[in-house]
Amino acid sequence: MVWMILLAALILVISVVILLQAKQLVKLLTRSSNYPPWMEGLPYYGRVVLLLAAASMVIYLNGWEAHILNWLNLLVRWTHVIIGIAWIGASFYFVFLENSLNRTENIREELAGNLWAIHGGGFYYVEKYKVAPAEIPKKLHWFKYEAYFTWITGILLMIIVYYSQANVTMVGQLQLGTALSIFIGVGSLLAGWLVYDGICRTWLIDRPIWFFLVMFGFIVLMAWLLSYLLSAKAAYMHVGAMLGTMMAGNVFRVIIPSQKAMVKAAESQEPLDPYLGQHAGLRSLHNNYFTLPVVFIMISGHFPSTFGHPYNWAVLGGLFLVSAGIRHYLNLIEKGQQAFWILPFATLGVIVLAFITAPPASDQDLGEEVSFQEIRTIFTNRCNTCHAANPTDELWVAAPNGVMFDTPDQIVAMKDQIMMRVVVTETMPMGNTTNITPEERDMIRRWILQGATVN
Ligand code: HEC
Repeated sequence: MVWMILLAALILVISVVILLQAKQLVKLLTRSSNYPPWMEGLPYYGRVVLLLAAASMVIYLNGWEAHILNWLNLLVRWTHVIIGIAWIGASFYFVFLENSLNRTENIREELAGNLWAIHGGGFYYVEKYKVAPAEIPKKLHWFKYEAYFTWITGILLMIIVYYSQANVTMVGQLQLGTALSIFIGVGSLLAGWLVYDGICRTWLIDRPIWFFLVMFGFIVLMAWLLSYLLSAKAAYMHVGAMLGTMMAGNVFRVIIPSQKAMVKAAESQEPLDPYLGQHAGLRSLHNNYFTLPVVFIMISGHFPSTFGHPYNWAVLGGLFLVSAGIRHYLNLIEKGQQAFWILPFATLGVIVLAFITAPPASDQDLGEEVSFQEIRTIFTNRCNTCHAANPTDELWVAAPNGVMFDTPDQIVAMKDQIMMRVVVTETMPMGNTTNITPEERDMIRRWILQGATVN
């Protein structure tokens, strides 16, 4: 685990240095006066590695790995959400601009359109050029670091939350083992990008409906495959990360290179290939459609009835369809078009999904009476290693989500969630590290149905 922390910290430092070209940071790290004399001969990255190694030693010797991992989780997650908001916000904003441009009234020849807006107490006026302005302005704002840092912090989160404890978080029914599970997870991100980018380079790109059907089929296939190979939660998160990788890949491999080529051509007064801008625009539009499904997957961990359902891959497919549909509806509205059929269909879709994922009503068999004493024993053996004021588990040094089962009241208060996680979705105990048996799950079910009394 120490090396995972080291790796995560190292990636973070390196990415900050490279991406921000943080001259200040480099200066700080390279200034000799900041180091003891015996370090002088070392290049600055050597010093960084040394410092990280020293920090890791302190962490290791004090047994703080889980605690530090928790803080890393907090900081990286926080950053990830904020930068992700900036990225998606920009995506929404620019697609809105594109959709809402005035393209007809009083437009100069060189313009594709313009738009007036009021925001934050100011009036704004934006013009979009058909191709490029006659002269490229010195100060041209680019939008790429949001994408890059969202992806990098996302990968760091995968390492911190999933890969560093893969035996609990990644391994599913098939019990594929830690290394193989991580390999499948990382492989899916790469495979996803290669397939998507490949599809974008075929004739399908000019046939939106076919393109959508093929991509949708591929995503559902990946969801099915991953949920077969990995744990339910890991499967969901990897589908989300795969879509996120496609989005960041679009920015890194297509949109920014196209824009660089466009700027270069405009600067050297060469004729500009209109395909560059059009193709980049399409990729950007794909990203726009991915945003809603991706954000759902990122918060899906709170909703065990989605990832915990036996057909969780189909539930994901359904929610993908519904949410991308709503994005489509919004895009049409921005263009001044109405597609009234989308909302009723999306609403119906959500209702159907909620219905399908409802816990089975048939299993109401109360059976023999279960005493609280028996339940208490199950909780002590199977849950309290993590869910207690002082957990004994190696990884969960604080009660997960603050949920503790130390007193009868605490158990009773959580009975509905317990039913959901232990009986319906079987997503607790996490990774079933405490080896709960099917009989014990059924005893918990019966105890709750019998009224969850503490007698
Ligand atoms: C190996 C550690 C571990 C064990 C053992 C474990 N859990 Fe959990 N539990 C977690 C973690 C981590 C979370 C938070 C992540 C999540 O919700 O998946 C959690 C979340 C939960 C939640 C959701 C809490 C919420 O905020 O809604 C419930 C309910 C729950 N566990 C019940 C149980 C029960 C009942 C058992 C025993 C049968 C059990 N857990 C055993 C680690 C564990």
